[in-house]
This record gives sequence, C-alpha cells and structure tokens, in this order.
Amino acid sequence: MKITLVGAGGMGANHIQAFPYVKGLEVMAIVDANLEIAQRYAKQMNCRAYHSLDEMLEHEQPDAVDICVPSFLHTDYALKCIDRGLHVFCEKPMAHTCREADEMIARAAHSGVKLMVGQVLRYWPEYRFLKACIDDQRYGKLCYLSLTRQYGMHPEGSWYLNPDLCKMVCYEMHIHDTDMVNYLFGLPDAVDSVGSERPEIHMSYINTHYLYHGKGFAVSALGGWNDSTLPWAGGYLAAFEHGTLEYKNGVVTCYPSRTEPFTAQLETLEGVPSEIVGVYQELTEFVDWIAGRIEKTAVTPQSARNTIFMVEKECESVRTGQRIAL
Ligand SMILES: NC(=O)c1ccc[n+]([C@@H]2O[C@H](COP(=O)([O-])OP(=O)(O)OC[C@H]3O[C@@H](n4cnc5c(N)ncnc54)[C@H](O)[C@@H]3O)[C@@H](O)[C@H]2O)c1
Repeated sequence: MKITLVGAGGMGANHIQAFPYVKGLEVMAIVDANLEIAQRYAKQMNCRAYHSLDEMLEHEQPDAVDICVPSFLHTDYALKCIDRGLHVFCEKPMAHTCREADEMIARAAHSGVKLMVGQVLRYWPEYRFLKACIDDQRYGKLCYLSLTRQYGMHPEGSWYLNPDLCKMVCYEMHIHDTDMVNYLFGLPDAVDSVGSERPEIHMSYINTHYLYHGKGFAVSALGGWNDSTLPWAGGYLAAFEHGTLEYKNGVVTCYPSRTEPFTAQLETLEGVPSEIVGVYQELTEFVDWIAGRIEKTAVTPQSARNTIFMVEKECESVRTGQRIAL
C-alpha cells in the first residue's frame, strides 16, 4: 500500500520511524510546509518531498495519506483526501467539533474509503494491560481509576500555545485519557469538569469526573500543561477489590492485596523499538484493515467521534459550571 505523510514535525517523525516496520507499506512522499524538513526525511526514506498537500496530490497517486499536521487542519486535509478516494489515517484529535467528525465519517462512507484516527493509547502496552485487568477481573472489580497527563515544555511560538489555532489541553492531551475512558467503559451518563485556560501564561488544565450510574466505580482524569520544565508525564492509578495498578514514570507496578508488589510484564513486539510500539500497531491495523485482513480496528471512526463528543461535553461543563448529561 502506497502512503504519503503530511506534517513531519514531532508526531510525524514518530510515524516516519514506525513506517519501515509496517509490513506492506511503501512510503511515496513526505510533505511539510517546511520543505527542508520534508527533504531531510524524504532522503532518509528514499522518497519524494513536497511542501504542501496540494502539490503532493498533483504529482502522486498514493492509496492513503497519513495526516500529522497541526490539529486545526485535520478536517480540511482529511476531507480533501477522502473526496479524492484516498484512505486516511488522521492523528488525534480527529476534529475540533463533533459536526466535523460526523462530516468526515459520512464523506469517507460516501467515497468508500477507510478513515482511522490515531488514538494511540489504545495500542500502548501499559493501557492494554489496564484494559485486560479490568476485563478479566484478575484483581476483582474495578473500584476507581484516576488518569493523569501533564506537560510543561511547548516551545514559544508553537501553534499549541495559540488559542486561535489550538483547542488547548482538552483536545490535545487530555483527549488521550478521555479516549481511554471511552474505550474502557463507553460513553458516560454525565461529565463533571473544572478547568481553566490562561494562554498568556501557557496554562491550560481540566479535571473531569466521568459518571457511570449504577456501575459501582469512579473514574476521573486530570490533564494540564503550564509554563515549566516538567517533561511529559502520564499515568494512572487503578484500584480493584483485591489490588492496585499504578503506571508511573514509565513503569506499571502491580500491588496485589497482601503479597509483594511486582513490575507488570507488558507485551513487547520483537524488533520494534518500544517507543514506537503504539504507532506501529495502529499503522499496522490501518494497513490490515484496508487490505481486508481485519474487519475493524481498535479505534473505529465512530468511537473516535464519540471521544470528541465527550471532550465537547467536558468543555461545556467547564464553561457552565454544571454537570452535563450525555
Ligand atoms: N498521538 C499522539 O500521541 C500525538 C502526540 C503528539 C501530537 N499528536 C498530534 O499530531 C499532530 C501534529 O502535532 P506535532 O506535535 O507533530 O506538531 P508539530 O508542530 O511538531 O509538527 C507539525 C508539522 O506540520 C507542519 N505543517 C504545519 N502546517 C502545515 C501544512 N499546512 N502543510 C504541511 N505541513 C504543515 C509543520 O511544519 C510541522 O513540521 C497534532 O494533531 C497533534 O495533536 C499526536
């Protein structure tokens, strides 16, 4: 399958690193508004470089496009490719509104192409382990889950810090944990969020309680960024009837009741560097889905759309100070 990548920045570089490991994938071109970046990666991948999506589409005939440009471009770029009959892998967030996400799904169905969204946590071994423990109840039923995600180092001038272009922490970072909650438990009955956005000091945070009536567990997620030297920090604490899991500083520790704690054995993929396992797995599923080897991927377009719906409701809860029913 022939693919081109659009947007070779931080996340695009991860995809480029993963491409050679994905069976059946041929990279035709790298596109970046900064042509020097595109040329550098194109040389490495032995393919062509372009400075815009339009220029690439004029000259190439890929089967699929991998969209890793800043989020405010996702819907326009995805629709442009979909309408040309190209399969689309789009980084998260799928879109900035539910309406846009619905449009992307409808147009992909109309064009008969596959659309996949990079909600990559669903492929991370640390979160697959959490899901397995919740599903098979090896430590009993889940009682509460707390997810966190924080960062402090967006460079000055980055689109991430421009509130006209970026929907801040909710749509950029916290959405990973919202998506995990959606993946693990489906749409909640309601969300109750507090948060704040102060772009003048690079501050953006949200703390949400996801309410699942009658399920007997509590779920919350805190996402934030601020002006500091804090490197990326994400994790969770999951308390079950007979044990606790903690994912912290890159390690998942199991604390069973009344026995010694131990480090969880997470799945590894032979030959694939651990830092790109998630991206590798999602891109592999994308290729397998297009080739008809699997019927659906762990991230269906509808479920990625539901994650946007949840984030919209969380932002509404912050804005109104009310608990919002879904
Ligand atoms: N799944 C994840 O874990 C994850 C992590 C980080 C970022 N992301 C997502 O990836 C996307 C990109 O984020 P990033 O951190 O790589 O941003 P970035 O700023 O590091 O990179 C964006 C790149 O896109 C290029 N670009 C900008 N406008 C363009 C255009 N019109 N045409 C072509 N290229 C253009 C820029 O030159 C830059 O190289 C965002 O949507 C972000 O939410 C996902």
